[in-house]
Amino acid sequence: MPTTVVSFRSRKGSPEPLTMVTCYDAAFARILAASDVDSVLVGDSVAMVVHGHATTLAADLDMMVLHTAAVARGIGDDKLIVADLPFLAHRRGRREAVDAAGALLKAGAHAVKLEGAAGNSDVVTHLVESGIPVMGHIGLTPQFVNAFGGFKVQGRGNEAADHVLADAKVLEHAGVFAMVIEGVPAELGTRITRAVSVPTIGIGAGAECDGQVLVLHDLLGLTSRVPRFVRRFGDGTSLVSDAIAGYTAAVRDRTFPGIPETYA
Ligand code: KIV
Repeated sequence: MPTTVVSFRSRKGSPEPLTMVTCYDAAFARILAASDVDSVLVGDSVAMVVHGHATTLAADLDMMVLHTAAVARGIGDDKLIVADLPFLAHRRGRREAVDAAGALLKAGAHAVKLEGAAGNSDVVTHLVESGIPVMGHIGLTPQFVNAFGGFKVQGRGNEAADHVLADAKVLEHAGVFAMVIEGVPAELGTRITRAVSVPTIGIGAGAECDGQVLVLHDLLGLTSRVPRFVRRFGDGTSLVSDAIAGYTAAVRDRTFPGIPETYA
């Protein structure tokens, strides 16, 4: 059964957590298509992971549309595709937000994700009422790296925790079908999960969220520096290094190409 926004939303409070990973290209999308992951996020982390920028601010709409289309071509029909609205794309008014979100849906996404709650309520409701499902993103929202003074855990202390909880309620009332909670103490992740009626997808927000998301290259062990909340489920760097070493050695000792790889 394909995962849709409706089936995703309906798994609020389900004993089996929702699973989501980022994906940026058709090659990985084809591998994920054959997996049992529920959903893929074409995250603006593509700017860092694939394009080598220091923050996500370098992602623009063209970049997001390009990668969303590539993922959509590879992923098949079963996975829910969520694409990030890049930095400021939803802050220039309803019209620009609809154009940007519409471009991502036309590229193949089923929903968009946007960061932050303050000032976004009206635009979230307008997108939802226009047929564009929206996932929220609160806590350590990477597009606010300059405002936060770095990639710093949010919601520590009562006042800060209440602030993040209030953000969650704003987005819930605006009509999001789910929300990512990033980089907050686990206790706050649990509190928000209990307080809202839509699924919470945690990344560094503890084990009690309704689901979890990780950056694909982090979990595959393809990135060098990772935050505390990442677990590497594979050693992708060794896998790639070993394959390249095997290739260069075979070329140098002339065992590649061999007969099977040679045209008569
Ligand atoms: O861009 C991204 O990869 C994200 C996840 C970290 C949730 O927003």
